[in-house]
Formats: sequence, C-alpha cells, structure tokens
Amino acid sequence: MSEHNQNPHEKIEKNVGLMAVLIAVAISFGGLAQIVPLMFQAEAIEPLEGVEPYPALQLAGRDVYVREGCYNCHSQMVRTLRFESERYGHYSLAGESVYDRPFQWGSKRTGPDLARVGGRYSDDWHRVHLINPRDVVPESNMPGFPWLARNEVDGATVTRRMKALRTLGDPYTQEQIAQAAADVEGKTELDAVVAYLQALGRHAPRGGQP
Ligand code: HEC
Repeated sequence: MSEHNQNPHEKIEKNVGLMAVLIAVAISFGGLAQIVPLMFQAEAIEPLEGVEPYPALQLAGRDVYVREGCYNCHSQMVRTLRFESERYGHYSLAGESVYDRPFQWGSKRTGPDLARVGGRYSDDWHRVHLINPRDVVPESNMPGFPWLARNEVDGATVTRRMKALRTLGDPYTQEQIAQAAADVEGKTELDAVVAYLQALGRHAPRGGQP
C-alpha cells in the first residue's frame, strides 16, 4: 500500500504517541461508565438497615484483625455465585461495609470467608480457636494468636480512632466517644476480636440465593 493511501487505523497503529493517548481515552470511558453510576446509587453508599459504626470493643477487635493480617488468609465477601451463598449465606452487599475503613473484602482464601461468621460459633469456641486452632479443628493450619489473650485493649487509642472516624463522616455521638475507654476497660485483645467476629454479617439479609 502506498504511503499516501493509509487508512486511519493504520495511521494510529504506526504512531505510538497517538495510540497511547487513544488507549488512555478508551480506558477512561470504560472507567467512567463503571464508576460514575455507582456514585449515584444510594444502595452503594447508604448503610444497610441496622448497620452502624462499630462499637468501641468491636472497633478495637477490627484493628487487631488488621494488625495481625487475618485478611492474608480470610476474605470477607460472599460472591454472587450459588455455591458461595449455599456455603456462607446471602452474598455481600456494599451497604454492609460502609463503616469498614479499610474494607476487608479481599480475595485470598486460605481459610474460609468470614463475612457471615457472626453467631456461627460460641464465644468460647472462638477463644480456644484463636489461641490454638488445632484444639478445635485438628487439621487446621491456621496459626495461633495466644498473645491476644495477654494484651489489654488501650482505651485511649480506641477513643482517638473513633474521633478520627467521625471526622471522616462516621456518625459516632459525643457520648459514644466519651464512653469508649470505659467500654473497653479491662478487656483483652482476644475479647475484642471475638466481639468483632461475632458481629460479622449480623445485619446481612437472610436467605441465600442470588
Ligand atoms: C495462615 C492463614 C491464616 C491466618 C493468618 C488466619 N487464619 Fe483463620 N483460618 C485459617 C484456616 C485454614 C481456617 C480453617 C481451619 C480452621 O477452622 O481452623 C481458618 C478458620 C478460621 C475461622 C473459622 C471460620 C469458619 O467458618 O469455620 C475463624 C473465625 C478464623 N479463622 C479467624 C481468624 C482470625 C480472627 C485471624 C487473625 C487473628 C485468622 N483467622 C488468621 C487460616 C488462617
């Protein structure tokens, strides 16, 4: 084909700079089409009924969960697939995690998804399991976290956290913040993680099928 007779496609393919710009434009359009509608969908940003900012002890437990890297082995998102909802319960909704900063959805599942674990076991089961998983699940390869039973929750840190979350828009009341240190007084990190785990998925819709 002669130089003078290039079709537009060929022109673009032979010009790396132009092609890069056009690729960026194409990707941006795709992103906009996906992201912008979500910003205007109330259900994507509104908490689900009953979902509230974490009470002091659960918030402390959530921090321990993040610090210990539980998310390296556990996701907290039931996907919209039948075999997932049959195993775990109703698929996860955005309105369940509006107060999760950072969210813990994840995709790594060395262990089971935990989005619906609240109420599945007793507090005592969790305590034994977290200290030494093999005491209740002999084939488990989850590590033990025995120090959680020895570490006390620091009330001042929880109070500061709640204040920080309030500046980000979490509707904590003055009273909840003033009460936080007393709420966690004398509690261990183990108490806190168990409180957090027992609350996971408690406000999820019942039933399972997508
Ligand atoms: C190295 C990977 C790994 C890490 C890290 C880990 N887990 Fe696990 N977890 C597992 C595996 C595997 C199982 C399944 C066997 C069992 O029940 O012990 C499991 C099971 C569980 C279960 C029971 C879930 C169910 O539905 O039966 C809970 C609750 C749990 N883990 C909580 C935690 C918490 C909290 C942490 C962080 C403090 C944590 N795990 C860290 C691998 C891990």
